[in-house]
Amino acid sequence: MLKGKKIVLAITGSIAAYKSAILVRLLKKEGALVKVVLTKGALDFVTPMTLSTLSGNPVYSDFTEDHDRGTWTNHVELGLWGDLFILAPCTSSTLSKICSGQSDNFLTTVYMSAKCPILVAPAMDLDMYAHPATQENLKILIERGHSIAEPGEGELASGLIGKGRMAEPEVIVDLAIETLNPVQKLKGQSVLISAGPTQEAIDPVRYIGNRSTGKMGIALVEAFLEQGARVNLVAGPGVPACSERVNRIDVTTALEMYDACIALYPESSIAVMSAAVADYRPANAAETKIKKSADSMRLELVKNPDILGTLGANKGLKNQFLVGFALETNNELEHAKSKLEKKNLDLIVLNSLRDSGAGFGHDTNKITLISKSNKILSFELKSKSAVARDIVNAIVEELGA
Ligand code: CTP
Repeated sequence: MLKGKKIVLAITGSIAAYKSAILVRLLKKEGALVKVVLTKGALDFVTPMTLSTLSGNPVYSDFTEDHDRGTWTNHVELGLWGDLFILAPCTSSTLSKICSGQSDNFLTTVYMSAKCPILVAPAMDLDMYAHPATQENLKILIERGHSIAEPGEGELASGLIGKGRMAEPEVIVDLAIETLNPVQKLKGQSVLISAGPTQEAIDPVRYIGNRSTGKMGIALVEAFLEQGARVNLVAGPGVPACSERVNRIDVTTALEMYDACIALYPESSIAVMSAAVADYRPANAAETKIKKSADSMRLELVKNPDILGTLGANKGLKNQFLVGFALETNNELEHAKSKLEKKNLDLIVLNSLRDSGAGFGHDTNKITLISKSNKILSFELKSKSAVARDIVNAIVEELGA
């Protein structure tokens, strides 16, 4: 979600500074490049070694690097480097300094030099937070266009209970994403995505499976997160890792995928079934490894439930926006349209195995989108991330969001 984004994390002297170490880790997990700036006060709470190890970069707290050689750290360069400046935790003292432009330490000079969006997470005792001086300062920052991570309520370092605790690192990461992607068209929507293959046991060591890798599903997860949606992912075996912000349920068989999708469907407003579900499973999986004996063997298969079809038949009060995939080899449009109708879909994503670079395993895909109203959109061969954005944009347009 923050892939390649350059973030300056500025930490001031508050006990909440320990949470900033977790914040660095979460930002890095989302793919951000992080450089940490500390005030002298912050050094009493966290060590530069912890933060440089976690961020993978040197940390900065002073203008001079080496007094004897007369080298100095360029605060302007650092300020201009950032795509986002996060001030977490922000003490009342630093809050007041940045409001008035008092640049008497390295951190505030970096702030004064930054031209990127600013996100501030105040942390202080309840009376200091409630003080008119603090509230007026926050108003100034809001008028300046800064984002504020509102402090939470709870037990404070003073032992008092009230509002003033720094927002949790996860909340700050959400706000960072929102600050960098200000137009999120699916905020508040809950999306259910199925991805990857299923495996249907023949015996304890063998299964019926398929070549799906789940790459398309993961690209969809990321495209939905970019638009501010909450994502429930039901992932078959081997589906790559994804953002920790996703509620991920790992399954193996079609029946497990069915149960997970049915359970999560009522809370979803959008469902995208991109998994390659096995249509059939062995009628009876052997409990012990099947030994080779006869020259041939027969395997009796029974039909798996159609997850997408079941969701289409049970849209209920939420009237979910339902998206299916069709992987075809011939009469592609005709087959896709008939699946759209039969399974009561709002949109179908057609892949043709005749297109090179499309389908299982590739990092690219070539799709045609067909809507319920028979609007047909064909796209060029693109990366799966770009394809996922095309699909999400089409959903946004169909929903009028
Ligand atoms: N799908 C599903 N559950 C199944 C089979 C398929 O949810 N048991 C979903 C897939 O995730 C995909 C869509 O249905 O979104 C299309 O699957 P596909 O196998 O191509 O369609 P079928 O209806 O099974 O038709 P056929 O295999 O005959 O082409």
